[in-house]
Amino acid sequence: MIELIPFYRPVFEEAERGAVERVLSGGWPGMGPKVEEFERRFADRLGLPYAVAVSSGTAALHLALAALDIEGGEVATSSLAFVAVPQSIVLAGGSPIFCDVEPDTLNIDPESLRVALGPRVKAALVAHQGGHPADMEALLEVCRGAGGIPLVEDAAQACGAERKGRQAGTFGVMACFSFDPAKNMTCGEGGMVVTRSRELWQRLRELRWFGISKETAGPGHEALRGRSWYYNVERPGFKYLMSDINAALGLAQLERLDSMNRRREEIAAAYREGLEGIPGLSLPQARADTRCAWQRFVVQTDFREPLLDHLASRGIEAGVHYLPAHYYEPYRSGALRPMPVCERAWKRVLSLPIYPALTDSQAARVISAVREFFSSSR
Ligand SMILES: Cc1ncc(COP(=O)(O)O)c(C=O)c1O
Repeated sequence: MIELIPFYRPVFEEAERGAVERVLSGGWPGMGPKVEEFERRFADRLGLPYAVAVSSGTAALHLALAALDIEGGEVATSSLAFVAVPQSIVLAGGSPIFCDVEPDTLNIDPESLRVALGPRVKAALVAHQGGHPADMEALLEVCRGAGGIPLVEDAAQACGAERKGRQAGTFGVMACFSFDPAKNMTCGEGGMVVTRSRELWQRLRELRWFGISKETAGPGHEALRGRSWYYNVERPGFKYLMSDINAALGLAQLERLDSMNRRREEIAAAYREGLEGIPGLSLPQARADTRCAWQRFVVQTDFREPLLDHLASRGIEAGVHYLPAHYYEPYRSGALRPMPVCERAWKRVLSLPIYPALTDSQAARVISAVREFFSSSR
């Protein structure tokens, strides 16, 4: 029987096990000192003053858009995205409007964003697809040109990515990360919003916990302000807390993020070398002046479905990212303009397994299975 190569497999070490065990022995598994430490260390790594840990990347996106008060407005984003993206816009009371992507990185195309930025657009939500940093200078310029529309980064797939020496997550008014089990680092499940703005930080923290504020007092409650049990609620929020168990895992993973990303780079380089020159197969490449986090290794081919089947027959799991969001009923109305690059790309994209636990011999098996497909069937 052939050994299955899964699409993704996270690996935990003694550090993670010990960290979780210590939280369990400490008696308080909910949000507490570990979450605070994780927020501080994550923000420090990015050189930013504020971070708010939450229960998922989707919660991070939802909170960021809610903090910007996009309710009743539009948010411009790419359609070639995980459904968490348009869903978070809708949950925050907005409507997604979709832009086209660039053919190589599959990131949102700055020119397409420029055309989309009409008077109802309250924010741009920009993902770094598969860990490839988006063209942030051009995108920020477009947002400035449209009257200073805030740009929120979806850095869910870009933990550790850099553009021109600057880390993904440090460009936008806020940036959102995901720590689900398939990401560059994981907490089991979790997310983070980072920002330079103290005001947004405070709003994010309140919205994360039912809209509860200890800083203010509601009308008629002024005399209660300062009592230990008292809190105010100015607007309804959510319960999007991260637990200390998840944060302990995250802290240990953060320590290993660079070495895990280096292993991803090695695998990407091996795939590029092993798959180069196959007619009909395009390979991803990190753009000059960027460091890709290689959360995905996305090849493109007109023979995507038979290649997927062939890989499955060889015990190799691969993925497709994504059917564009505007193909789903709830998000159909966001496709206001043609998106020719997206329409061609989604039928051709195939994600090969890439993760730190993938061994050299497994990567070699993937390469030979892809080569075998193109030499036998074309
Ligand atoms: C680009 C992108 N945004 C948002 C999310 C949502 O993150 P989560 O699964 O942690 O809610 C994901 C991951 O699934 C993602 O890949």
